[in-house]
This record gives sequence, structure tokens and C-alpha cells, in this order.
Amino acid sequence: MAKPKKRYICQECGAVSSRWQGQCPDCSAWNSLVEEAPETKFSARHDLSAGGRSIQFEALDAPSEALSRRSTGLAEFDRALGGGVVPGSAILMGGEPGIGKSTLLLQAAAAIAKAGSQSVYVSGEEATGQVRMRAKRLGLADAPIKLAAATSVRDILTTLGSGAPPDLLVVDSIQTMHSDMIEGAPGTVSQVRASAFELIRYAKENNVALVLVGHVTKDGNIAGPRVLEHMVDVVMSFEGERSHQYRILRALKNRFGAVDEIGVFSMEGAGLEEVSNPSMLFLSGREEPVAGSAVFPALEGTRPVLVEIQALIVRLQSGATPRRAVVGWDNGRLAMLLAVLESRCGLNFSSAEVYLNVAGGYRLSDPAADLAVAAALVSALADKPLPLRSIWFGEVSLSGEIRPVSHSSLRLREAAKLGFDSGCGPSESRADGGQNVAKLRYSGLSALTGLVDRVMANP
Ligand code: TYD
Ligand code: MG
Repeated sequence: MAKPKKRYICQECGAVSSRWQGQCPDCSAWNSLVEEAPETKFSARHDLSAGGRSIQFEALDAPSEALSRRSTGLAEFDRALGGGVVPGSAILMGGEPGIGKSTLLLQAAAAIAKAGSQSVYVSGEEATGQVRMRAKRLGLADAPIKLAAATSVRDILTTLGSGAPPDLLVVDSIQTMHSDMIEGAPGTVSQVRASAFELIRYAKENNVALVLVGHVTKDGNIAGPRVLEHMVDVVMSFEGERSHQYRILRALKNRFGAVDEIGVFSMEGAGLEEVSNPSMLFLSGREEPVAGSAVFPALEGTRPVLVEIQALIVRLQSGATPRRAVVGWDNGRLAMLLAVLESRCGLNFSSAEVYLNVAGGYRLSDPAADLAVAAALVSALADKPLPLRSIWFGEVSLSGEIRPVSHSSLRLREAAKLGFDSGCGPSESRADGGQNVAKLRYSGLSALTGLVDRVMANP
């Protein structure tokens, strides 16, 4: 028999190498390759005469059962899921350690249990005493949750198999689970994959809604479990800055709904509180205009959220390489915007340090933020504040044009509702009713040079 070939699996991205290397050839992570048990080989080809079962083809429009969804008891969680959990579905809940995943899921499990359904919470990270203490702090000590501390998938499935299947099963976290079907330490890619596979199969066969917690690494990938993303039905990410109280729950993938709605929570002394009207959260509420601050009407699903973008420019005397630091926005996007401002508008950032911050620990992904970031940068560079109650939105192209964005009127309407009186955006937006919403004056810009003129003209 041929000696089984050794294989090394990158713990970050799951790439397989035949020899150990210091750096993963696929994702360039350092020291991430770990030797794992060789894969079981399947015979190269199916024997067609051996008689597989024939499968039934169905019409696409054949009648099927309507999707039933169950509320998690937290409206914001339901909203991010697209209307509640679907029985028999597997959800991967990713987030940095300490962001509040266990708290959120304990609250959801408690709400489901209190509503008369069965919920099981299996903790692989904390002792039952610790979970009980958290439940007490959350005021949920009386919720009829079935709680266990376990890490063996076989034990968990044997126990669950001996009774009626629960409605909700929370496994916190998948990186601590261990399947004895294969070799390897908990947390390795093979273990995570095998444990998840068994749990998901149980959930599908028994119509159990399964939530797997997965810790993410600092670059935003779900460590190891990134290889799980295709196995589960829903991938959720729980985000926020640990030092700020706001948390955002987003679906990155959802086989049962849209991925654009978010759930907003605030971490309080007694757990996560739902924020049903988040549009004001990320504004500083300041009454004096300051240079370098611009308000952007972001759109999260169907809800507008107004966020403040702050820029700081520090001129350097020496020839040292200037720093660029960004919190809450994309680094590469800032570099692009600076390059466009330099080459199309003749501004000079090359000898200045640029700091960009999105207030409140919010993370912007909406491309319409370009114009607001540019406005903050130009305002900081010129040391001229933008008008106090104004909003800015639009996508900036490499040629310096301002491109139209989705839902201009929705953004403007929300801003008007919150007392903003002027808005600046793409010139095309007038067409979709974006002009002069309520008492808000709208000015359209077609190019970034127009923005610079506007900021400079401000007293
Ligand atoms: P946790 O749910 O343990 O995070 P995760 O499971 O994502 O690692 O929550 C961790 C933080 O939340 C902890 O540092 C303290 C904070 N917290 C509160 O502020 N209030 C609370 O009521 C609870 C339970 C936690
Ligand atoms: Mg936890």
C-alpha cells in the first residue's frame, strides 16, 4: 500500500499544500500551515453498473411548503435574518472575541425558551456556572433553556438523539468542538469542518435551527470556519468596536432572505438592547461647525443611518513618510480618493498625515460615502468647516466625476426628518425626486472640482 501522503492545511484559508511552508501560497498568511491527517481517497470513478438510486427531477414551479420562520424574540435579530430563523437551517455567527456573540445568543435562546419552544445552549468555552452567571446578569435566569458545557460532538448528538429534537441549538463555539470521526486538535480546519458537518446534518434531519458561533481573526475572516461558509445557510457577522457600545448584526450570506438588512444593538449593563431607530446613533450632535467633519447618510438595507465622518490633516515639516490611518472605512479606498483629489483637483496631501475616522465605531461599506469622505478631507485641508446641517453622498470615479448612487431620495428624506437643511450629491439624483425634499436644499455636483469650489467658497 502506498504511504499516505502528508498534507498541510492553512488554518486561515483552508488551502492544502503537500509540504510545509512558512507562508501560505494561497492567502499569504504566515505560520498558518498545520499538518493534518491525509484525506480518505475515493475510487477515481463510479462503477455505473453497481446500481445507484435514480433521482427524481422536479419542476421549478412545483408546489412547495411555504418557508416557516420563527422569531428569535429579538426584532433586530429577526430583521437581520430576513424575518426570523428558518427551522432546519444552519447559521454561522461570526465576530471578534468579546463583541457579544454569546450574550446575543443567550438572549435569543432565552426568548425562544420563554415563548414555549425548546432551546439548547451548548458552551464549549465557558463552564455552565459562567453561563448561568451571565444569564442572571441579563435577568434571564428563569428561562427554561437546556444548558450544557461540552465539546464532544458525539456526546452532544447522542444526548440530543435520545430525546425530542429542540427547536434551537446554539453551539458556542465551533472552534472548540471535537469530532472523534477524524484526527486532529479542536480548532483545526479538518476538525471544524467535520464537527460542523455532523451538527448540520443533525439539524437538517431533525428540523432544528442551528447556530454555530465562530470567532474571527483580526482581518475579518472567520478563522478556520471560513471553510464553513459554503456549508451553512446563513453567515452572520456581529460587528462593532469593543470600546463603543453599538453593535451591528449583518448577514453576509443568506439562503432564505436578503443580505442588506442590519440589526442594531447597544451593549448595556444588562445585555444587548435593541435599537429600532438607529439613524441618529452615529452623529456627534455638536452645535459648532468644525473643519474636517462631514455627515453621510448611509443606507443599511432599507434603513438610512446618518454617520459622521471626521478627517484630520497634519502637515509635516520633515521629509518623513506621512501616515495614513483609517478607522471604519477602507484603506485602499482612501488612497484612491486622495489620489483623485491630487490629480484632478490639484490638492496636495503628499507631505501631510491623513487620519480618517467614522464616528461611533461604525464601519462604512456603502460606496456612496466617497463624496462625504472627500468633503471631510477637503474641509480639513482647507481648515474650513462645512455648513452645519448638511449631508454629503455620491460615488467618486477615478476621473473625478460624481456618480449617482441608489436611493438618493430615501437618504435625503431621512436627513430632512432629522433637521438637516442642505444636501450635496450627484447631479443626476434630481431625476428620482431627490430635489428639495421637504425643507432640504439639494445641490447636485457632477465633478469633484465642484466640491472643492464649494468648500473653499464657504466662509
Ligand atoms: P460575550 O457575549 O462574552 O462576547 P463573545 O461571546 O462575542 O466573545 O460578551 C463580552 C462582553 O460584553 C464583555 O466584555 C462584557 C460585555 N457585556 C456587557 O457589557 N453587558 C452585559 O450584560 C454582558 C453579559 C456583557
Ligand atoms: Mg463567547
